[in-house]
Amino acid sequence: MATVRNWQLGRDMEYPYEEHHPARQFAFVFNTNRCIGCQTCTMACKSTWSLSRGQEFMWWNNVETKPYGGYPHNWDLKTLALVEEANPGGQRWSENGEDQKKFEGQTIFEAAGKVAGQGQERVLGYLPTDDEWRYPNIYEDTAKGPKGRRDAIDGEGATLPEHKTWFFYLQRICNHCSYPACVAACPRNAIYKRPEDGIVLIDQKRCRGYRKCVEACPYKKPMYRSTTRTSEKCIGCYPRVEGKDPLSGGQPMETRCMSACVGKIRMQGLVDIDANTGDWKEDQESPLYHLVKNEKIALPLYPQFGTEPNGYYIPPRWVPRPYLHQMFGPGVDAAIDNYVRPSRKTMAILQLFRVTQQIIFKYKIEEGPKIFETEVNGETLEIFDDTVIGFDEDGNEITRVTVEEPFHIREGIYANSI
Ligand code: SF4
Ligand code: SF4
Ligand code: SF4
Ligand code: F3S
Repeated sequence: MATVRNWQLGRDMEYPYEEHHPARQFAFVFNTNRCIGCQTCTMACKSTWSLSRGQEFMWWNNVETKPYGGYPHNWDLKTLALVEEANPGGQRWSENGEDQKKFEGQTIFEAAGKVAGQGQERVLGYLPTDDEWRYPNIYEDTAKGPKGRRDAIDGEGATLPEHKTWFFYLQRICNHCSYPACVAACPRNAIYKRPEDGIVLIDQKRCRGYRKCVEACPYKKPMYRSTTRTSEKCIGCYPRVEGKDPLSGGQPMETRCMSACVGKIRMQGLVDIDANTGDWKEDQESPLYHLVKNEKIALPLYPQFGTEPNGYYIPPRWVPRPYLHQMFGPGVDAAIDNYVRPSRKTMAILQLFRVTQQIIFKYKIEEGPKIFETEVNGETLEIFDDTVIGFDEDGNEITRVTVEEPFHIREGIYANSI
């Protein structure tokens, strides 16, 4: 095993291959607070990439209702149980410096070979059963109620910050990880990470269907296809990212699942990576950099698994914190505080979600007048009607929106015009 730097863990870790980083990395932010569970993203992906024979049970994008839902069922609970079995009581985060946390436990690479019966040498994982793949939206809209019940509502009611009866939607695609478990596990070297954008792909000509990638990926995003006897996965809609879609005029375009999102919860980007450290290069004009690095309101999903996933989530603000700490790591409280009382910049950037199909590389704010003031958690929140402008890769303006949405009144002449 080589030693590599994982900035999400605040430490070095073991990985089967030496450190190599792409020039740019496919990354995205999902705002769980806004998702309406409509599955438009799911169908946008399905209808584009996985409608053929043998792909019937394949959902590269899925949206599951937490805490009970999961595709495949219990994917996260099973991997959490495995690493706990490998390192009982040791899967903890600790303080490391002023605001940086360090993961003291073992990743799926470090815990490999430590659980009897889980034979992989390089990655600790498991192969889901056919039955676990069968119900992609199991327990949709099922809330967690009083202890031990999933069909009841807590009669007392509750107010924020935490509800006693709760669920939330978790949107999931391949994380195009910096240290992919699928790449680490494949004995055929059939999976690769593209140097130009960090998208992780399975070479269909090399794959022989060993399914070690399915077993190793903690997010269970490679899926086996019986008709071709190979595995397939989310391809990051790479032709669109490359600017090949005729609609984009050659400019990098967001993926199908991102651009179809009705709830406007998704923002995608290509972030510049430091070749030496693997960390994001500082870029104060990038909206993703601001959300993930400056304000830290968007957090990786199960960073403790160690793959350094490149999907980031704004956590749901009404969910009990211990559950969120386990899922998104120790930054949850600060992330929710920064989201419910957003800074002026964050408020402006949140307006950029889903306003154009092109990838927004840079943003700029033109300040407007103060339009509202209130109190959140005992502190003042001021809202300004700023204008936020998005730019493409070449610096051309591609979108311009205001914090306060314009109000349009239809003239009477158009009433009853159907
Ligand atoms: Fe591989 Fe899974 Fe990471 Fe995707 S999410 S890159 S399939 S390890
Ligand atoms: Fe599907 Fe493209 Fe979204 Fe991947 S990025 S889940 S391939 S729509
Ligand atoms: Fe949620 Fe957007 Fe998908 Fe609808 S399209 S389920 S709002 S992520
Ligand atoms: Fe490798 Fe997965 Fe194919 S382990 S051989 S890419 S099924």
